[in-house]
Amino acid sequence: MVKRVIKIVLILALIALVAIQFIRPEKNNEGYKSVASFEAETKPSEKVASILKESCYDCHSNQTQYPWYSEIAPISFWLDEHIEDGKKHLNFSDWNNYTIKKKEHKLEEFVEMVEKDEMPLQSYTIIHGNLTEDDKKLLLQWAGLARLQYKHQLEVSSK
Ligand code: HEC
Repeated sequence: MVKRVIKIVLILALIALVAIQFIRPEKNNEGYKSVASFEAETKPSEKVASILKESCYDCHSNQTQYPWYSEIAPISFWLDEHIEDGKKHLNFSDWNNYTIKKKEHKLEEFVEMVEKDEMPLQSYTIIHGNLTEDDKKLLLQWAGLARLQYKHQLEVSSK
């Protein structure tokens, strides 16, 4: 009797797992051009741009590079949630629509997150690896400089 119940539960679970494969979150990959204006303004070196692309753009731009397992539900739902949440807080593809004040503030948070090892999300670094100390140094130098330019613009405009 117990065995039969277990068997039915397993079969139902299997059916559910197959069924959810048909629910596919919309892909977030508009393409590399989407961060062009962000990069034109903040001028990352080639190295910094590649760190951003490998470590941040998957959740903070409209150009996620999807790994193969992102095709499998429920992993796909879980990744989609991180992407949507990440973009809501900070979307480099939306940089054009941010005010100078917001840009300055987002870069301040950027520095804070990288300094404290809070970004990329831990679940992401398990698979993609952590930023190296060199990566962090380069990101912090570049973000600090980029932030200064916005701070300066704010000071000039408030005079
Ligand atoms: C796997 C997805 C993911 C990756 C990769 C990722 N982030 Fe995030 N990020 C999030 C999520 C989700 C949030 C919002 C929730 C939170 O703060 O934990 C967030 C929040 C932030 C915030 C705070 C913005 C605000 O307004 O509060 C900053 C800054 C940030 N991330 C920077 C980065 C940087 C820099 C990188 C790359 C080094 C990065 N993130 C990589 C998902 C990600």
